Amino acid sequence: MLDYCTHNHLGFIPWSPLATGDLAKPRGALTRIARQVGTQPAQIALAWLLKKSPVMLPIPGTSKVKHLEENTAAALIELDDSIMKELTNS
Ligand SMILES: NC(=O)c1ccc[n+]([C@@H]2O[C@H](COP(=O)([O-])OP(=O)(O)OC[C@H]3O[C@@H](n4cnc5c(N)ncnc54)[C@H](OP(=O)(O)O)[C@@H]3O)[C@@H](O)[C@H]2O)c1
Repeated sequence: MLDYCTHNHLGFIPWSPLATGDLAKPRGALTRIARQVGTQPAQIALAWLLKKSPVMLPIPGTSKVKHLEENTAAALIELDDSIMKELTNS
């Protein structure tokens, strides 16, 4: 579906992009890579989504301004191919 949307320039909104907060919890590959890159796990999750396609439009929910700022800044994080592969396989 994402391939179809990308090919046809249709926006793709991933449902609950942080898995309702689970992907922001300190454990696993996201946390390991976040430490390596110097960011937060939620930011790595969002950066991974954004790199998957130019039509990706994650809308993470949050009740905190700090998290809103972190989530917005995730758009500036560049993940290299080896990190993308590690995240995709984890
Ligand atoms: N129409 C529907 O029935 C429906 C149902 C579900 C979701 N949605 C939509 O999907 C989108 C997001 O869904 P969602 O809010 O359920 O899930 P989500 O975006 O995957 O996760 C939100 C959770 O992640 C936490 N979080 C956000 N940013 C964080 C950060 N930087 N660090 C740590 N924790 C962070 C939030 O906690 P804090 O508040 O503490 O930041 C919140 O508990 C929204 O646009 C929502 O409208 C719609």
